[in-house]
Amino acid sequence: MDPANSSVVTEFVLLGLAQSLGMQFFFFIFFSLFYMGIILGNLFIVFTVVLDSHLHSPMYILLANLSLIDLGLSSTTVPRTILDLFSNIRIIPFHSCMTQMFFIHVMGGVEMVLLIAMAYDRYIAICKPLHYLTIMSPRVCVLLVVAAWIIGMMHAVFQFVFVINLPFCGPNNVGSFYCDFPRLIKLACKDTYGLEFVVTANSGFISMGTFFFLIVSYIFILATVRQHSSKDLSKAFFTLSAHITVVVLFFAPCMFLYVWPFPTMSLDKFFAIVDFVVTPVLNPAIYTLRNREMKMAMRKLCRQVVNAREMT
Ligand SMILES: *[C@@H]1O[C@H](CO)[C@@H](O)[C@H](O)[C@H]1NC(C)=O
Repeated sequence: MDPANSSVVTEFVLLGLAQSLGMQFFFFIFFSLFYMGIILGNLFIVFTVVLDSHLHSPMYILLANLSLIDLGLSSTTVPRTILDLFSNIRIIPFHSCMTQMFFIHVMGGVEMVLLIAMAYDRYIAICKPLHYLTIMSPRVCVLLVVAAWIIGMMHAVFQFVFVINLPFCGPNNVGSFYCDFPRLIKLACKDTYGLEFVVTANSGFISMGTFFFLIVSYIFILATVRQHSSKDLSKAFFTLSAHITVVVLFFAPCMFLYVWPFPTMSLDKFFAIVDFVVTPVLNPAIYTLRNREMKMAMRKLCRQVVNAREMT
């Protein structure tokens, strides 16, 4: 291909989520409320875990990390989508589009590994309780978080290097409200059949594999819990069902977005909204409202804040 002609696309056009003014207002209220909930809920979890020394166990430290990632994941798309709602032409510069795509996959990759780490933590706590403190030491916890970041980065870079070098010369309508690999590679003026396979393999099969691995692990843990009927039985069931809910909510959209070969249906926008807006706000709710220690710590934190205010 002629190099002068190969990179004429300097900006992409995003699709508006809503056509009518009424729908624009609806989405504006919906996204704004949820995004506020995502920021407040997740920061609240992070502060509660960091400030309360009772919660400095791997389970809560991983949860606080997950909260930060949730916040990051929705921040890659939601603020821009809110700003774009009322504009008629939604232009996104080439480099912003690439950056958005890159960070979506860094955050998504880290979240995936963190969910595995949280399942592993519960597996050790429930199936090998006597060795919990030696296996899940603070050092191992740090290693798991570092591994999550390295794998997330590798996952994103691996797809990014293919797409950044593609020639974009013609159509520049992304056809969705954010930039992502499956949509973008369809815009390249080059046969991308092999690349589509790379994306499906890297994002789709990984999320599918991780999903089934996690579900099987949780079924295994639940079966173990059932055998040892202890007084912590119902507590373990509560914790595990919270984890399973989050896993299903996070992975179902991922699998649809990357494995389903026909992304042109409007259903993919609905699934993307679930992953960027609904899951990140549900995580804090699911993990905290069902967890007594977390609720106690939050109440304590609130009391301290109120007392501090009264003193000043
Ligand atoms: C995330 O995990 C690391 C490593 O275990 C920990 O040091 C850090 O405090 C965690 N982050 C939060 C916000 O809890």
